Amino acid sequence: MHFKKRNANCGELRKENTNKEVILNGWVQTVRDMGGLIFIDLRDRWGLTQLVIEPETNPELAAKSKELKSEYVIWAEGKVRERENPNSKMPTGLIEVLLKDFEIINKSELPPFEIIDDLDTNEESRLKYRFLDLRRPTLQGNFDIRNKLYQVTHQYFAKHNFYEVETPILMKSTPEGARDFLVPSRINKGKFYALPQSPQLYKQILMISGFERYVQIAKCFRDEDLRSDRQPEFTQIDVEMSFANADEVLELTEGFFKMLWKDVLNMDIQTPFLRMTYEEAMMRFGSDKPDLRFGLELSDITKHLQGTDFKVFSDTIESKGIISCLNAKACASYSRKNIDDLTELAKKYGAKGLAWIKFADGKVNSPISKFLTEEEISNILKETGAENGDLLLIVSDKKYKALTVLGALRLEIARREKILEQVKNQFSFSWVVDFPLLEFDEEDNRFVALHHPFTSPLEQDLNLFYEKPEIARANAYDIVVNGAELGGGSIRIHQREIQEQMFKLLGLSKEEQISKFGYFLDALKYGAPPHGGIALGLDRIVMTLCGTENIRDVIAFPKTTSGLSLMDGCPSQVEKKQLNELGLRLLKED
Ligand code: AMO
Ligand code: AMP
Repeated sequence: MHFKKRNANCGELRKENTNKEVILNGWVQTVRDMGGLIFIDLRDRWGLTQLVIEPETNPELAAKSKELKSEYVIWAEGKVRERENPNSKMPTGLIEVLLKDFEIINKSELPPFEIIDDLDTNEESRLKYRFLDLRRPTLQGNFDIRNKLYQVTHQYFAKHNFYEVETPILMKSTPEGARDFLVPSRINKGKFYALPQSPQLYKQILMISGFERYVQIAKCFRDEDLRSDRQPEFTQIDVEMSFANADEVLELTEGFFKMLWKDVLNMDIQTPFLRMTYEEAMMRFGSDKPDLRFGLELSDITKHLQGTDFKVFSDTIESKGIISCLNAKACASYSRKNIDDLTELAKKYGAKGLAWIKFADGKVNSPISKFLTEEEISNILKETGAENGDLLLIVSDKKYKALTVLGALRLEIARREKILEQVKNQFSFSWVVDFPLLEFDEEDNRFVALHHPFTSPLEQDLNLFYEKPEIARANAYDIVVNGAELGGGSIRIHQREIQEQMFKLLGLSKEEQISKFGYFLDALKYGAPPHGGIALGLDRIVMTLCGTENIRDVIAFPKTTSGLSLMDGCPSQVEKKQLNELGLRLLKED
């Protein structure tokens, strides 16, 4: 169909363009007939421009405009003029285009919701009509940022001599960590590919192949429970380097974030980032991804309660647990109900109870004061820096359990006290390092790798790895921004014997090692260089840059938390013929 092509876009016209003859293409946002004047807001990717028709001087065009409705696609031709009533909120708010002519290029049905930003339509409807939702300026802005992130990634890593390499999407299933998505093979019936949870082993093999520096914007797939910052398919900026130590990986990553924040937000961020050990992050903030934009730190008060008669505490001390305390500043006015809510939350995170001490008007009020001596209470107040008006929240349990519960309460208090609101435009970058290498899984009665089984122990913990693996630390690091884990990586094991020992600790028999990872163990025999790397969660970086809590705001076609794509209706049933070709039969056919 013929239409007049734009010579300007809807976001660029300013006062200096007055009297310019322009043609615009776009979608009709609204039509307002004010009698004396008819206003049309026209929208495209770049913005919104007000068009105006004067019925008195152009009655024909005014009559034609009666056909226009929201979301119609039009071309419009006219002359830029200054507005009588400027709108300082719009970048194009000082001008309007006096229309000479327009034509409808395509009509639209009445959309199920208005295409505006402050929209309280439910998310289900927005996801079903994603093609309309994506027209909203906020979402378009998010994709502008996402696009800039791709550009910076290519530029930065090219400048540092990295190769971009594509690794397979159909690969061998090696369930470690999350569950795999499986793809049945038609040609090899009864056999399955898996979609990659990450290109981890491929990138390590590329190092063994002598590629030295690899980067890929990689799609990853994990069949795990979803949350607001997790999708079953997501994107990583995946990086690996040979002959590099952890400092070099961290420095390279810091340079990347520096360039990104400058290019996208025009902000200078300070490098190097603060480094904190896992142990310190847990003890002070109750989290391995601490939000460092505010205080509210935890204190270890175990040492002040060594002789206590209070059974809850003495049992914990006996079993080598911890009694930790969060000073909720200025929260002594919390009601019984507030504290009950916090107790519920603590229990949700696995606490057996929540003890509290209010310190107000120089007096202590607490359900556990009868179990504590004056000296114990006074030591607790001192240790936590309690001041008049503070509320102390205490959890006594196994060490990391108690700390995690208080870490969750810390964030809840920050939310309730509007502290998060106050710091929302700040960014705090940090590294969390020296993670434990292994974690004991009580249910399966075996060790699991905290990061993944290819992560090397810290060099100084190599003996521990053989003798007391449960306390060996990993040469692993996470990058944490405002309490979100934006990426993680490690220096890898490059010696076959250490890798075999790791598999053994994880409970893999020799046979299982060969059947699952034989190719990789083979590759390690032929001169594997020392290497390490990192994977950055691309979607989470975009979330941080855009200031959204919802990962679905930065992925074009996301899934719901139950893994559904509401727009195209997947996952869906398939025809019996397809199953037959694959040699598959369903156990139960609905
Ligand atoms: P890891 O599993 O820590 O490491 O993942 C790296 C980063 O990817 C992001 N991420 C996710 N984003 C959205 N949805 C998900 N379901 C999801 N899962 C992870 C996070 C995370 O920090 N191969 C290793 C990296 C390495 O060792 O180099 C890996 O995948 O931001
Ligand atoms: P109890 O003697 O069990 O009634 O507990 C007395 C107080 O200790 C109550 O306020 C409980 O919430 C609290 N409490 C119980 N278990 C714990 C725990 N593991 N950590 C902290 N406080 C607890």
